[in-house]
Amino acid sequence: MDRILIRGGHRLAGRLPISGAKNAALTLMPCALLTDEPLTLRNLPRLADVDSFGHLLNQLGASTAIEGTRPEDFGRVMTIRAGKLTSSEAPYDIVRKMRASILVLGPLIGRCGEARVSLPGGCAIGNRPIDLHLKALEAIGAELETTAGYVRASAPGGRLSGGRYRFPVVSVGATENVVMAAVTARGGSVIENAAREPEIVDLCRLLVAMGAAIDGIGTETLTIEGRDRLHGATYAVMPDRIEAGSYACAAAITGGTLELAGARAADMRATLDALVEAGVTVEELADGVRVSADGPLRPITLSTAPFPGFATDMQAQFMAMLLRAEGASVLTETIFENRYMHVPELARMGADVQVSGRTAVVRGGAALAGAPVMATDLRASMSLILAGLAAAGETSVSRVYHLDRGYERLEEKLQAVGADIERVGDG
Ligand code: EPZ
Repeated sequence: MDRILIRGGHRLAGRLPISGAKNAALTLMPCALLTDEPLTLRNLPRLADVDSFGHLLNQLGASTAIEGTRPEDFGRVMTIRAGKLTSSEAPYDIVRKMRASILVLGPLIGRCGEARVSLPGGCAIGNRPIDLHLKALEAIGAELETTAGYVRASAPGGRLSGGRYRFPVVSVGATENVVMAAVTARGGSVIENAAREPEIVDLCRLLVAMGAAIDGIGTETLTIEGRDRLHGATYAVMPDRIEAGSYACAAAITGGTLELAGARAADMRATLDALVEAGVTVEELADGVRVSADGPLRPITLSTAPFPGFATDMQAQFMAMLLRAEGASVLTETIFENRYMHVPELARMGADVQVSGRTAVVRGGAALAGAPVMATDLRASMSLILAGLAAAGETSVSRVYHLDRGYERLEEKLQAVGADIERVGDG
């Protein structure tokens, strides 16, 4: 397994390209199942999760062609052709490796009138149930049964009726699944307390480009008129607001200045506001965001929340950055029950973080020392990279396959702005 070695202490400076958003790509790709015409996605990030999702689509009978991009280019163009599906089953061995596979459930019911999808199971950050996905799909006419670790879904008469559902709590994935199922239902659907993340907006915009009828895009109430069929489209994946926020923390923790090329400030308002509150300078540019920190950072109090609140996917990265603040910060994780796996690893580098339930008190100011640490989940591994960039000496991060799921060519992007970082194979 590969490791990433970092020798910290270098201020980062320069222009860093932001890739297409992982969490948008993983909900845009299954939309190809909703039409027998080609769907071309541009600015697709080169990530392990995107490759896994491509393999799942192939398993269902769709072809996925990567069109000519030079190796040095970031992002790829993929054309997905699902003209003739040969299966409507997502097997356990694929779903267990990538829980986002559950996002084929809605489109398969919408296209084939049936689906059999393995239950995803939990992951490092929580048990990640899918009860809300199932309740929402039932509300628009799906018949579901869960047996032997699989969900079997069907649409009576081969087509969903449409209906109304109000989410008791906000769920990104469940909103995505029910929207993708509702766009080809026989009647209309109203989804209330829908997630409003930018990735949901990207999904709705793609579906409208494919001929869907969706009102209220970006709000918590989505009104959808079912269409008999959708057509193909060409669509560019939105920039990754979490990758951009992660590299903004890299500028802050090293006291440097980074231009995040392609970042969309409107998608990351809560992150940018928190950076400013911590004493970081943020400038919105025509084609991105410039982030610089040339003085001490200030401690802040943060609580994660659904969009437009502070993103749970930014919590671990902010914890690392706040290790450089002069004073105690208080972070509260309200979305997932086990999203502090990075704390014991950061402690190995000298971090002083006390966790009690959902709240972590981060006492900044202590010097960070490089150490061998282990990645446990995607965003936790980024917090270890960030701490390594600021620590004295060498940090070795193992199990970097977690990073490869969500950060395109991370060490290359950081090397280009002055980090002393390299990937080494363990043979
Ligand atoms: C998406 O996960 C993202 N993943 C996550 O990003 C992100 O952390 C999360 O949304 C919240 O923003 C992708 O988009 C692929 P949820 P998702 O359904 O859809 C509970 C990353 O690092 N819940 O909004 O699974 C759930 O347990 C990943 O890029 C139910 O109880 O998140 C959690 O506590 C990590 N029942 C809360 O809702 C359900 O049926 C929010 O989960 C579904 C969710």
